[in-house]
Amino acid sequence: MLVDSFEVQSPNVVYSDEHITSTYDYASTKLDRAPDGKWVVKPTSTSYQFRVDRRVPKLGVMLVGWGGNNGTTLTAGILANKHGITWMTKDGLKKPNFYGSLTQAATVRVGNFEGEEVYAPFKALLPMVEPNDIVLGGWDISGLNLAEAMERAKVLDWTLQEQMVPYMREMVPLPGIYDPDFVAANQEERADNLIKGTKSEQLAVVRQQIRAFKEANQVDKIVVLWTANTERFAQVVEGLNDTADNLLASIERNEAEIAPSTLYAVACVQEGVPFVNGSPQNTFVPGMIDLAVKHNVLIGGDDFKSGQTKLKSVLVDFLVGAGIKPTSIVSYNHLGNNDGLNLSAPQTFRSKEISKSNVVDDMVASNSILYAPGEHPDHCVVIKYVPYVGDSKRAMDEYTSEIFMGGRNTLVIHNTCEDSLLAAPIILDLVLLAELVTRIHLKKDGEEAFHGLHPIAVLLSYLTKAPLVPYGTPVVNALAKQRAMLENIMRACVGLAPDNNMLMEFK
Ligand SMILES: NC(=O)c1ccc[n+]([C@@H]2O[C@H](COP(=O)([O-])OP(=O)(O)OC[C@H]3O[C@@H](n4cnc5c(N)ncnc54)[C@H](O)[C@@H]3O)[C@@H](O)[C@H]2O)c1
Repeated sequence: MLVDSFEVQSPNVVYSDEHITSTYDYASTKLDRAPDGKWVVKPTSTSYQFRVDRRVPKLGVMLVGWGGNNGTTLTAGILANKHGITWMTKDGLKKPNFYGSLTQAATVRVGNFEGEEVYAPFKALLPMVEPNDIVLGGWDISGLNLAEAMERAKVLDWTLQEQMVPYMREMVPLPGIYDPDFVAANQEERADNLIKGTKSEQLAVVRQQIRAFKEANQVDKIVVLWTANTERFAQVVEGLNDTADNLLASIERNEAEIAPSTLYAVACVQEGVPFVNGSPQNTFVPGMIDLAVKHNVLIGGDDFKSGQTKLKSVLVDFLVGAGIKPTSIVSYNHLGNNDGLNLSAPQTFRSKEISKSNVVDDMVASNSILYAPGEHPDHCVVIKYVPYVGDSKRAMDEYTSEIFMGGRNTLVIHNTCEDSLLAAPIILDLVLLAELVTRIHLKKDGEEAFHGLHPIAVLLSYLTKAPLVPYGTPVVNALAKQRAMLENIMRACVGLAPDNNMLMEFK
């Protein structure tokens, strides 16, 4: 059974017009090692107070790469939902939806009512911006309007595109920062909508563009998300981009090694605007992270976890969790969209390879019964550009594992799917959750004042391939754990215990 909404009644939670305030006992463990080498585990309980601002802002979302496949697909998808646009296909009439979005199309368990399990939409846990209320905008180095760019993308059914044209042809991306040294040479021909000048001049323009967008659309808050081309990794060099001060000084000196994506991110932090990176490159060089922490502005990333990697972070978690030992994971992809074209250059492919490579590390490290120290499954990722398949990416994965008594198990998975139809709902979740996270404040027992969560938004991990975490925080890639972290912290904000699946009522 699905309920649209619910309110928690408990002495631990107080609803006012402005806030939801909850008191929550966080149960964990403390580990010690006795002199004789024996491990001692002590259960701990820490009291937290969470305070969530219930006032949902009018939100502007600015996409870097707005005119790309993801940007146009998300824009058309939101507008089709907003205006209730339906379209005919050979399979019949289609209606818009938000399938693939955790916040809009997934549910959480609330409890049991007279023997029936009761669920609520994920978005019912805490007040969130409605997708249809978002004001969209952004940048693209290609000046096509969004209707033309949607046609170029070849993602959505033509009868839907035809109906979306009147809504999208007036939408024109802002000029963007282009540096051919950071993307494949094959991108040059679409780069006709550019911010000129030195890096510090470009930075100033982007800051001005953000302010102007806010003003023109009268939005309360903005979130910026990078869904532009994958860049090559920037070199991290002492004195260049290792600290906030060095990064800012390097921008002033117009240093070549400062990537466009880092410039957008710096502009956002300086404007107090959250910035999420949906591509694999190291936009967040140490100096950039330092800057975000100093300004206490949310940053999150990296690289949308949409298809092959998402499945990997489920399958390997299942195998290792079942005591089965994956020994070889080989992932082939071919795709024919502009992302594939850009990734056909070795430097940009390398960024993708790096972000895809560490996704099973936490699962492997969790089981030293299976893996000796330092042992790791063979893991190989191949990406090829095949224009004919367009946005319909093919991902072929072979997982070979050792099973009982020297046996071998091979799983082969073939996944065909429009890449941008997977990514667009993830972009939506990222911007909605990034905004929500900025409204969550907490204080631990003994702390005087409420403060925000750490500016590096670990709560977005579920949606990213290579989650960015603060120094010293464990990186969790296993999908179910990432979802549980997000859901359970949101539950704690309304005074609900984590869903522990114990079902003691029925034992
Ligand atoms: N679709 C997926 O499932 C998925 C999953 C993970 C990551 N990604 C990443 O998302 C990004 C976008 O994917 P896509 O399929 O939309 O690609 P795309 O090539 O269709 O779109 C990218 C857009 O960014 C623009 N652009 C490039 N550099 C820019 C800059 N410096 N400033 C402003 N605009 C710029 C391009 O002109 C293009 O329109 C890629 O980096 C891709 O690797 C996609």
